[in-house]
Parts: sequence; structure tokens; C-alpha cells
Amino acid sequence: MPVVRTFVAVDSSVDRAVVQEALPASSGEIEILGVINGLEDSWNALQEAPIDLLAVACGGHSDRALYFIESALKQRPERPIVVLAENAQNGFVRRVFEAGADDVVSLPESPDRVAFVFQKAVARRQGAATASGIAQAPMICVLGPKGGTGKTLTSSNLAVAMAMAGKKVALIDLDLQFGDIGLTLGLTPQKTLYDLAKSGGSLDQEKLETYMTNHVSGVRVLLAPTRPDQASFVSVDLLRDVFSLLRSSYDVVVVDTPPGFTSEVIASIDVSTHLCIVGMLDSLSLKNTKLGLETLELMGYDDGRISLLLNRSDSRMGITEDDVETILGRAPDVLVPSSREVAKSMTDGVPIVLAAERSEASQAFRQLAATYTAPAMAPSQNGAGEPSESKSKSKSKSKSKPKPKPDQQAKNDDQVGRVRQLLRRQ
Ligand SMILES: Nc1ncnc2c1ncn2[C@@H]1O[C@H](COP(=O)(O)OP(=O)(O)OP(=O)(O)O)[C@@H](O)[C@H]1O
Ligand SMILES: [Mg+2]
Repeated sequence: MPVVRTFVAVDSSVDRAVVQEALPASSGEIEILGVINGLEDSWNALQEAPIDLLAVACGGHSDRALYFIESALKQRPERPIVVLAENAQNGFVRRVFEAGADDVVSLPESPDRVAFVFQKAVARRQGAATASGIAQAPMICVLGPKGGTGKTLTSSNLAVAMAMAGKKVALIDLDLQFGDIGLTLGLTPQKTLYDLAKSGGSLDQEKLETYMTNHVSGVRVLLAPTRPDQASFVSVDLLRDVFSLLRSSYDVVVVDTPPGFTSEVIASIDVSTHLCIVGMLDSLSLKNTKLGLETLELMGYDDGRISLLLNRSDSRMGITEDDVETILGRAPDVLVPSSREVAKSMTDGVPIVLAAERSEASQAFRQLAATYTAPAMAPSQNGAGEPSESKSKSKSKSKSKPKPKPDQQAKNDDQVGRVRQLLRRQ
């Protein structure tokens, strides 16, 4: 992406030192062409400047700044505007967006983050963002075609493990009828997706944040409705807006899903950059996982962006890891053993990565998180980031693979045959 030539207009309502601290140093990506005090002087200087982005710094509520934004847009409608607001008051952010600004950064903020917002605003205006997901954070959709395979266990631990690794993580509970993320994370829902859907009006990041709940790990959670009958109020259109807003303000978005391909699951697969399929070692789950993988292939989802997590991987179901590979056509990327600790962590509402950091299950979830937090996954110009190399090499063998005895092998062959039969019946 070419360097973003930026001009900063500083209104008198903001502390200039706070603005200076937030501005990225000129680099190969951002070039600050000028920082001008006073909007009137800025207006004059703006006339000559060959700039790609206009940043307007102001205090918590400045009508002058709003007027300035509107005038600048009238003059050059195609030029993106980012507002740097100190102590932004309720309602001001909405008015800034109504005036036509592309994004708002609340000061103080780190120069890295500000640089990211500048680049994103330019990329969006160039129309490239919608086409290729430019500068949108990765979104990982956790799927399991069959109920009870460990999707909620996985999404909650994955989100918390990434937050512990320093990422700004948003977690959405898309199991709209029977969402368990709140219980699993020990959260009491004050507001849920249902309240958001009922609120009406336009949606922006500031408003969305007020419907999210904080987890102690730093993960921000958008909880599922508390009653099944509230699910129908949450439209797919609303969810699309939510995904897009979250992906532009978090480092990574994790989505927990209900079993099956419901319309909201399909919508989230559509915009996800990565999928994590959670399967188990019994023949029905494997059959459904296989069908799920085939469905994703039909949907045109790139296999390289799918991770396969095998939960309860140590269960003695007569199916070995090799059988899994034969049936699914790929080896699992991560293995999570069955354990009492895991079950207890879910009942207690404390994710296993916090409750028992050194357990095998925790290690497996951290390993999964690491595949998504590797540098190649960071928001980048191609947006999604390629699956990191470490992922393909990272088959966790939390448990060494059991070598079946001859009579066991015969049983295993039966199991593989049974799964094949189940698949033929579809
Ligand atoms: N590795 C494990 N060890 C022990 N118990 C587990 C393990 N994985 C899952 N469980 C138990 O299985 C139950 C189902 O797990 P979870 O809620 O994560 O599944 P799910 O796929 O989200 O289910 P649903 O399809 O109903 O949403 C939980 O109550 C949990 O205690
Ligand atoms: Mg669940």
C-alpha cells in the first residue's frame, strides 16, 4: 500500500500534546505532512496540501470540528477523514459519523493503533476493503456440525488464550437460542444481542461497545439472548454490521456457533477468515465432521484456512488418529484430551486456560491460539493473513498416538467402515 500522506488539523478544544503523542512517526506507511493549530489556519493550509487523509483532532464535543468535517467533505468527498477525539462525550461520536467521518479514535491512543486506523480509512475509501477484506482483523468461526462436541469450550478458551497473549479480542455467542458462553465464562448478562437488536437505530462502534460484557481476561463478549424466543429478533443483517465493526476495532474476533449450518452461521462463515472445526472421536461425530468439511468445500471455503480440533481425543472409541485421517482426509491440527478438570472448568465458569494453565487441555488451546496470533495473522494489507506456517507444522500430539493391537486394528477397520456406511446413507 502506498504511503498515506496525512494532514492533521488541531482544534483549540484539544490538548495538542495529547494529539502529538498519538500521532505515528512518519514512516514508509504514514507520512505526516503537517500538524496545524486552529481549524481556520488548517482550512487554508489544506487547500494546497496533496493529501490522502485528513485527521481532525478535537475535544469531547466541538461543533466547530463537525462543521469543519462537513466542509472538508463537500470540497473533497472522496478524501477520508479520521477524527481524533479527546474525552469524546456521549453522542459526539455519532454526530462525527453523521458529519461523514470515516472513523473516530478516542485519545489517548497509541501511534500504532492510530496508524492502523489511518490506513484502514484510506483502504476503505479506495473501495478495496469490501473486495478483499483489507485491514479487517481476522475472524475465527468455531464450528461443529454436531451438538456437544466442544465448540463453546473451544471458542471461550481460544478467545481467553489470545487475550492472555496480548491481543484485543472480541467474542460473539452466535448460539442465539441456547448460548452458553456467558455461563462458561462466569458472566452475568446485563445486555445481550437481543437488547442490541431491539435498540433500533443506526449502529456504530461506540453503541456496540455498550452491549458487550467484559471478561476478566480482557476479552469483550457479545452475549447470546437469554431466552430462546428472543433469537428471532437478531437478524443476519445486524450480525453482518456487528462483524464488520468488530473486525475494524479488535485484533481478532472469535465466533461461537450452534450446531449445524443455520443462516447466521452461514453469514459468519462467509466473512470469517478462518474456521476451527471441532470434532470428536465417535463415528457419528466424525461422519458429521466429514459432511461439514464437504459442505464448506462446496461453499468454496479454502481448506488452508480450516483448522481441525479433535476434542476428547483420548477417548477409547475404537477409532485411532490414523482412522480420523483416513476418514476426514486430513490429520487434526490440535488434540484436546478429555478430563474432569475441563468439565469442572465449564461448570465453574472459569476457562481451563485460566483455571489450570499447565493442563494438557490448556496447552492445546494455547497452541491453537498461537496459530492465529502468529505475525502472519495480524491485520495486514491482505486483511485475512495467510494461515501461519507454524499451524501446518503444529500438530499437537498432546497424547502419543496409541498403537492398536491386531484385534484392536480389526475393530478400528469396522469403525472406519461404519463411518463410510453412515456417509453413504446421506
Ligand atoms: N475435553 C473435555 N473433557 C471433559 N468434558 C468435556 C470436554 N469437552 C467438552 N466437555 C463437556 O461436554 C459438554 C459440551 O461441551 P460444549 O458446550 O463446549 O459443546 P458445544 O459443542 O458447544 O455444544 P452445543 O452444540 O450444545 O453448543 C460440556 O458440558 C463440557 O463439560
Ligand atoms: Mg455450544
